[in-house]
Amino acid sequence: MARKAARFVCQQCGASHAKWGGRCDSCGGWNTLVEEAPVEATPRGLGSKRGRKIDFVGLDGDGEGAPRRATGIKEFDRVCGGGLVAGSALLVGGDPGIGKSTLLLQVAAALSGGLAVAYVSGEEAVDQVRLRARRLGLAQAGARLATGTSVRDIAASVDVADGPGAVVIDSIQTMYVDTIDAAPGTVTQVRASAQELIRLAKRRGFILFLVGHVTKEGLIAGPRVLEHMVDTVLYFEGERGHQYRILRAVKNRYGATDEIGVFEMSDAGLIEVSNPSALFLADRRGDVSGACVFPGMEGSRPVLVEIQSLIAPSALATPRRAVVGWDSGRLAMITAVLEARCGLSLASREVYLNVAGGLRIAEPAADLAVAAALASAASGTPVAEHSVVFGEVSLSGEVRAVAHADARLKEAAKLGFTGAIMPKRRGKAGAGAAKGRRPGGLEIVEIDHLRDLLALFPPLAEGRATGGQGGQGGRHGARRREPARHG
Ligand code: TYD
Ligand code: MG
Repeated sequence: MARKAARFVCQQCGASHAKWGGRCDSCGGWNTLVEEAPVEATPRGLGSKRGRKIDFVGLDGDGEGAPRRATGIKEFDRVCGGGLVAGSALLVGGDPGIGKSTLLLQVAAALSGGLAVAYVSGEEAVDQVRLRARRLGLAQAGARLATGTSVRDIAASVDVADGPGAVVIDSIQTMYVDTIDAAPGTVTQVRASAQELIRLAKRRGFILFLVGHVTKEGLIAGPRVLEHMVDTVLYFEGERGHQYRILRAVKNRYGATDEIGVFEMSDAGLIEVSNPSALFLADRRGDVSGACVFPGMEGSRPVLVEIQSLIAPSALATPRRAVVGWDSGRLAMITAVLEARCGLSLASREVYLNVAGGLRIAEPAADLAVAAALASAASGTPVAEHSVVFGEVSLSGEVRAVAHADARLKEAAKLGFTGAIMPKRRGKAGAGAAKGRRPGGLEIVEIDHLRDLLALFPPLAEGRATGGQGGQGGRHGARRREPARHG
């Protein structure tokens, strides 16, 4: 298909546009279009010149299942699917300052035991990297260090007879190919630089690590286009205020993508955390009422967050409702359902809801977790310790199944949780997810209706019991007829 030579390229998604605009039609990003040198238009066709014949082979050959090279950093190897494959390209993405250079220096040092490793920094001077190596206690490792940003120079240096077996490029956004008239960091340059380096890696059979900075939107700056070019995409993430870091495989041609590696930051670099639950639960007091852990999905990635709520008596005619990290409309809906369907009235009380760690949740799957946090706060009873809660709540109070239940459970199990409160799994024939398996051996409490959830909090259950079926009358039921809240 003939593609027009584009001049304006979205730095977020890589889409090209003939005209400049404030907003990218393709990804909706604002102010992301940058003028770049026109990419060569697709040739008009093959013409009459005949190509060289390519060879076809059978599927069964002696390419004995790509041998893997383990780094010895277990959390890293796990995310890579057991080790690194020669000739493969890995993209390590993450926010600036999250620790990518530190991680890769440690990986480079670990690999240098049995492999010639070249570490090319386009961002830091040799002395800076040396200083870091000394601080990490890796100064004696055999990795070779250089600075450079020209892909031509780098290629010339590693494409030699006794070239390295692993090359680290820190970062791909600083690299440039001199035949392309565009600034480093632009989509065109990043794409071209990566392509050259990946081609070289495949030809020479070295392991290529590309560091990529992530923009605010959570995409690697400019090149989401890189994700399809490399074999493995790893994201390194964590919160600045916390000392833990998570390495996640988003794509892996040589392994599963639902593995995570957990590290703890220290003065001496990243330390593997073999029992992440200890780290995650360290801050969390399981016996506190009003808090519960929600296994959310960020894109295809599960992330556990704590949802906290506080319910306080109010002297105001319209008690306050404050939400951080969730939709206030959705909170109003959950409180209304709790009131109308379960007889738990919060009308005369202030309700505060907070998603810990500054995360924003947009998923309806958090409904049940929010309801559990509210019920827990209202009853003063903690949610079952070491349990995660998820499920969508309908206006009738029914709890609906949500997508990625297995991924959520697996993540919870990985992080040391032992139970889950979740929607009933319907035994749909043929549906891969609903096999009644219990990933990671979690103890699962299946909930059909919000009433079943409240039954888990004894004070509420008793209150409801006095009200009889459907929550008519009784302690909580009596409050049901209070005027609706505003806001
Ligand atoms: P750095 O690896 O330079 O981040 P990135 O390459 O992703 O931009 O690390 C950022 C800073 O954090 C740096 O000043 C070193 C510090 N740091 C530690 O002190 N200990 C650690 O374990 C890590 C990972 C980083
Ligand atoms: Mg860096």
